[in-house]
Amino acid sequence: MVDLKIHTNAGEGRENGFHAAVMRILLTDRTTRRNIVWATDDYEDCGELYRAECPITMDLLTGENAKLIQPRTTKTKSDRMSRTKGRAEVFTPAWMCNEQNNLIDAAWFGRPDVFNFSTNKGWKTNSAVISFEDKRGRRWKDYVDAKRLEITCGEAPYLTSRYDMVTGNPIEIRDRIGLLDRKLRVVSENAKDESEWLKWTFRAYESIYGFEYQGDSLLLARENLLYTFVEHMQNQWNRAPQPSELKRVASVISWNVWQMDGLSFAVPFGKTDVQGDEHATGSRDNIEKKEVYCKIRDWRSRKTLQYRTLVERK
Ligand SMILES: C[S@@+](CC[C@H](N)C(=O)[O-])C[C@H]1O[C@@H](n2cnc3c(N)ncnc32)[C@H](O)[C@@H]1O
Repeated sequence: MVDLKIHTNAGEGRENGFHAAVMRILLTDRTTRRNIVWATDDYEDCGELYRAECPITMDLLTGENAKLIQPRTTKTKSDRMSRTKGRAEVFTPAWMCNEQNNLIDAAWFGRPDVFNFSTNKGWKTNSAVISFEDKRGRRWKDYVDAKRLEITCGEAPYLTSRYDMVTGNPIEIRDRIGLLDRKLRVVSENAKDESEWLKWTFRAYESIYGFEYQGDSLLLARENLLYTFVEHMQNQWNRAPQPSELKRVASVISWNVWQMDGLSFAVPFGKTDVQGDEHATGSRDNIEKKEVYCKIRDWRSRKTLQYRTLVERK
């Protein structure tokens, strides 16, 4: 069994919790089959291997570097400002994510305030079990399967709200407002036993998606989603996940929350050399650079496809 404490901040498990195999999965880029890359020059002072185009590897994140990647709330003001200028990095407060997620649910359920109702820059959780219509496409399992995407997700506050991205304050499981948090609440309220709970918890993870350019934020998003699983398992079944369960959920996360430039739909720094013309002489003049377009997975149809084909579809 893995020794996993419940951490407030993503990042702590790198130092003293996650199994190396799980971390390796969280660092995987499913499109390139290599590791995600830094895609930020914030760490260049740490050495050659921290340049933006370099892969983030386990050894760059362990030992004395275990705390190198930290959530935005713990970064210095000047680091935050430079990331805001460079990459439009401004994180949304939890109350605002909640109001927007409530609109999505109001459309799905056909009624407002299903999980909570907004107060002035806050919310109050409804404690009654969420009710579903007994109608095709509107049952609890349909809600869990409904696909949701957070574009340019940063640390993924619209997907899971373990802590408020602006204040850094932790949020109790019952009061969380992320799109995944809501699905997990529904699973916990409806699954009749542990095996049904596990099946639908995995399906909840398979239905939520996010993409992000910067490798450090992407890793934090992935860790937040993994910790969410650990916390729900503890809360619901009073046990830590088995390594196989952690690896399975990490694998889904590494597919569904991926590194992409949202303007080109390609992997950052992922260009490959291709021969420019078919009568090429082999000279470097004929070499063109081609984007490596990101792949995503549709778990229900068991298909892998390029993200751009969804967006560019007429
Ligand atoms: C305004 S923040 C929003 C983060 C999060 N969704 C939130 O609401 O707190 C914008 C995020 O977009 C990312 N970003 C900026 N340009 C991007 C691009 N071309 N493709 C993908 N992500 C990008 C930044 O790295 C940053 O994390």
